[in-house]
Order: sequence, then structure tokens, then C-alpha cells
Amino acid sequence: MFYHTYRPRTIAELDNTAVRESLGKILSSNKLPQAYLFVGQKGMGKTSTARIFAKAVNCLENSFAGKGHSPEPCNACENCRAIETGTSPDVTEQDAGARGLKEEMLDLIREASYAPITGRYRVYILDEAHMISKPAFNALLKTLEEPPKHVLFIFATTNEEKVPATIVSRCVRVNFGKAMVPDIRSMLNRITTAERVDLDPAILDFIADNADYSFRDATKMLEETIMQKITTLEEVQRYFGLRSRHLFLKTLEQKSPEPGLRWIRQFIAAGGNSKLLIEECLNSLQEALLAKSGVPVESAPETTLSIKEIALAMRLFTDAYGMLRNAPIEAIPLEIALVEFYNGKKL
Ligand SMILES: Nc1ncnc2c1ncn2[C@@H]1O[C@H](COP(=O)(O)OP(=O)(O)O)[C@@H](O)[C@H]1O
Ligand SMILES: [Mg+2]
Ligand SMILES: [Zn+2]
Repeated sequence: MFYHTYRPRTIAELDNTAVRESLGKILSSNKLPQAYLFVGQKGMGKTSTARIFAKAVNCLENSFAGKGHSPEPCNACENCRAIETGTSPDVTEQDAGARGLKEEMLDLIREASYAPITGRYRVYILDEAHMISKPAFNALLKTLEEPPKHVLFIFATTNEEKVPATIVSRCVRVNFGKAMVPDIRSMLNRITTAERVDLDPAILDFIADNADYSFRDATKMLEETIMQKITTLEEVQRYFGLRSRHLFLKTLEQKSPEPGLRWIRQFIAAGGNSKLLIEECLNSLQEALLAKSGVPVESAPETTLSIKEIALAMRLFTDAYGMLRNAPIEAIPLEIALVEFYNGKKL
């Protein structure tokens, strides 16, 4: 699986520019903060970054070991290797689901008070931190206030709101925002170079644009593309036709229906399925509508459309969906919806 093979293992390999820079700064600073909160959706690199962090502070060959000025972990020394394989006695990685209770937290705190065995720091990586119970968090508060010198905590969460403010305020926050298209693009380059595959750059652009702002999704799409021996942009568009909704919804933000009409033409010519496209578009529009109305949703698409425009598009696409069955030419219902959307948008 590409997404295991190409999990970033060094700071330099973190394709998320903002995170790479902030991690680099933190690890090069004179005084290392002892508690961190990694916030972001799934697949944004929280776990990968936490492991790089744990390796960096325990590596036997970098600036932390007094060798050179770079905090980059070597990934070859005993400590790095043990952390990589999950066998280091000093680095604990667990789902808070498993350590959510107070008794378990007390065990952890007791253990944390002992000096590290092979490394310089005991590192506790607590994933899904919002699952930790209130009493368990309370038990931890004092330790967080004055942690033993050799202890580092990394809390990772997809849901910051559920982490008590008293904890958040004691942590250095690292934001794992949605992956930027250029960052995804550079990750794809990194993988194709390592795999020695030579893909049309237009295919890589397409994947980066359609990966839902997720490194993990992009990695999976690339793997499928290579496995399916896809070599042209048309093929990749057809293969991932379902996910092209993002591109199509973007055309609704243009000044005229022309780019959208052209897009539909290409989509159908490439063998795209309009029924699935409309379903997917409606899904995204609905998420966008909810998000813009203040209802929290997992991953609403970014859009400059207003609530009114979104609602209009939803109505027109729903009509188009109904018309599909009797349409002599598959593109027609979508084309009508698009043109009417632009007529309605002007009013
Ligand atoms: N910053 C990044 N740069 C490159 N690839 C990344 C990055 N973040 C995540 N990935 C890819 O996504 C996969 C999942 O990342 P992971 O660290 O497990 O995310 P999370 O813990 O936030 O769910 C990784 O194995 C890697 O393939
Ligand atoms: Mg994770
Ligand atoms: Zn090392």
C-alpha cells in the first residue's frame, strides 16, 4: 500500500508546508514545549508527524544527540528504528479509546515519571484525544502543568471542540488544515519518482485536484491509477468520474455557463456517468448548504457560492436527475440545469 510505504519519515518529507515549517521551528527551538495538540481531519498526517517528532527527540545521530545542527531524525539508529517498528519502550502510541479512563490515565502518569530507558524523552502519543474522559483529563492536568523534564505529550484529535479548554490551553497547537493542492502535487511527485513511474503531469494535476484535500486519498488514487495501467487524462477522468464533482461544482462559480458546458461535454465524451455525477454533486451541495447554515459537517466542500445559489443548484440538479431517465441525449438535463442556474444566478 502506497500510503504505508510513502508515509513521511522525515521532516523534509512532510509535504504539508505549514506543518513542515512549524515542526522544524519547534524542533530547532532552544526550549522544547512539552505538550502538543495536533488538530485536523483524518489522513492529514497527524500520526506520521507525531512519529517523526518522537524519533527526532530520541535520535542518536541528530542535533538532539549533539551531532550537527539538524533535528532531522536519521531513521537508521537503534532509537529511530525501534520507534518506527513500534518497539521503543519510551514511545507509546495509543488510541484514547483504549486509555480514556481515569485509572488508565493514572497508570500512564505513574509510568511517565520514570526516566526514559533508551532515549532522551518518553513520548506519549494519544490519538483521538477527544475520547479521553473528563476524569482522565482532570487526572492529567497537574502533570501537564509541570511535566517531568523527560516527558512529551502529543494529543491528536479530529475534534478539537471536545478537548477540554484547560488541556488545549496547556498545549502548543499544530494545525493540520486541509492539504493544499500544490502540497499534494509535490507528494505525488515524490512517490512517482520513488516508484520510477512516468505519468503525464496532467494526470497528477487531476489527482491532486480531486483528492478531497487529503494526502491519503491522493495516495490511494495514484496507486489505483498505476495499478489500472492508466496512461491518459481521459482514462483517469473516466476512472475517477465520480470524484470529478469537485471540478464540476467549481464551474458553477464561474462568470458564465461556458466552462461548465464544456466540462459536461468532456465528461460525457470520456464515458462519465451523469446519474452518479448528479448524485455526488447533490451530496456536496447539501454539505455546503449545511456548513454555510452553521450545521457542522465532516468535510464540506469549499465554495464561494451563496446559500441562495447553492439551494438553486440543488433544485435544478434534482430536476435534472428526474429528467435523466427520459433524456434522449444524456448530457441534456445537466446542460439545462447549468444554463438555468446561470439565468437564476443573475436575478
Ligand atoms: N504531510 C504529508 N505529506 C505526505 N503524505 C502525507 C502527509 N500526511 C499524510 N500523508 C499520507 O497520508 C497517510 C495518512 O497519514 P496519517 O499520518 O496516518 O494521518 P492522520 O493521523 O492525520 O489520519 C500517510 O501514510 C501518508 O501516505
Ligand atoms: Mg492518525
Ligand atoms: Zn536516529
